[in-house]
Amino acid sequence: MRILVTGGAGFIGSNLIHYWLKNHPDDQVVNLDALTYAGHLESLTDVENNPNYKFIKGDITDQKIVSDAMNGVDIVIHFAAESHVDRSIIDPLQFVKTNILGTAVLLNAAVETEVKRFHHISTDEVYGELGPNDPPFGEKNAYAPRTPYAASKAGSDHLVRAYHQTYGLPVTISNCANNFGSYHDPEKLIPRFITNLLEGKRVPLMGKGENIREWLHVLDHAAAIDLVLKKGEIGETYLIQGEEKTNLEITQMILKILGLGEDMIEFVEHRLGHDFRYAIDGSKLKSLGWERKHSLEEDLPIVVSWYKENEWWWKPLKGNRPNVDRVAQKSYNQ
Ligand SMILES: NC(=O)c1ccc[n+]([C@@H]2O[C@H](COP(=O)([O-])OP(=O)(O)OC[C@H]3O[C@@H](n4cnc5c(N)ncnc54)[C@H](O)[C@@H]3O)[C@@H](O)[C@H]2O)c1
Repeated sequence: MRILVTGGAGFIGSNLIHYWLKNHPDDQVVNLDALTYAGHLESLTDVENNPNYKFIKGDITDQKIVSDAMNGVDIVIHFAAESHVDRSIIDPLQFVKTNILGTAVLLNAAVETEVKRFHHISTDEVYGELGPNDPPFGEKNAYAPRTPYAASKAGSDHLVRAYHQTYGLPVTISNCANNFGSYHDPEKLIPRFITNLLEGKRVPLMGKGENIREWLHVLDHAAAIDLVLKKGEIGETYLIQGEEKTNLEITQMILKILGLGEDMIEFVEHRLGHDFRYAIDGSKLKSLGWERKHSLEEDLPIVVSWYKENEWWWKPLKGNRPNVDRVAQKSYNQ
């Protein structure tokens, strides 16, 4: 089998490639990635000489590159996206370009090549926000995205379904909760907080940390995608559920693991349009036989240890980056 992974140098894509080469040693994996600020080939150094792994540097909005990369491919697993909500507040058009146009270019090439499956990775954020006592979203809920990021992902999901209906492209979609694990860019909440604390800096927590997210270990996510490819029904969507926690609870867990106190928290303004809560009902995927094998309780300490031991990976990434949450806040407060 030849698998095209888009965005394989990013957080979830690189973990999926590790997972895939380990669990499907006879498959060939092609990684198509533009290496934006979020793409790190350093996450894949241990597989770069594997004869079943090939890297192509290229943009998913480039029709020629995509059509060449699609050559001989059986399955596409599409991760490549602009993925940081704060960046979508600063530069929404880049999100529309990559997430919507890029997905359409891939879908066109997949129809042309007659791939056996196009699996699209999406997010729980397309459904919008929930109140504290609302039931979790299910696959049939209407989309109500509230950020440029979520709206661009919703647009890409609609295109994937439209290509299934119109051209008969065999697609599946999974929408997942927030992921945690190793090789997670230090711009995102959990790795930013861990690495700030390892550097002796405080952690910027929005509001009072009352916002609620679900958290899913990235390797549970990889196993869920594998299962949907094996047992999922063509044209269907599967939600991949995590564990619900407030951002304050996550922060307290990290502080406890590192033996630090709450004086290390700096409470900052909410981001614009900060969604209060996301939660999804994963029973449809569970009916295929999926179960979470990892938990925050057991795995967050392992992730913290990974960041302690792998400064070589994250230190260079923190150096020249602006604090994008602050930039997003400022650009609209002026
Ligand atoms: N991280 C999460 O918690 C989470 C949760 C739900 C859904 N998702 C979705 O999962 C997917 C992967 O997320 P992630 O956290 O690994 O993202 P990431 O930002 O870590 O990685 C994105 C990757 O895509 C590449 N990329 C960006 N634009 C590209 C382009 N135009 N052409 C080719 N490559 C390009 C980047 O270089 C990077 O390697 C995304 O589609 C995201 O919407 C992520």
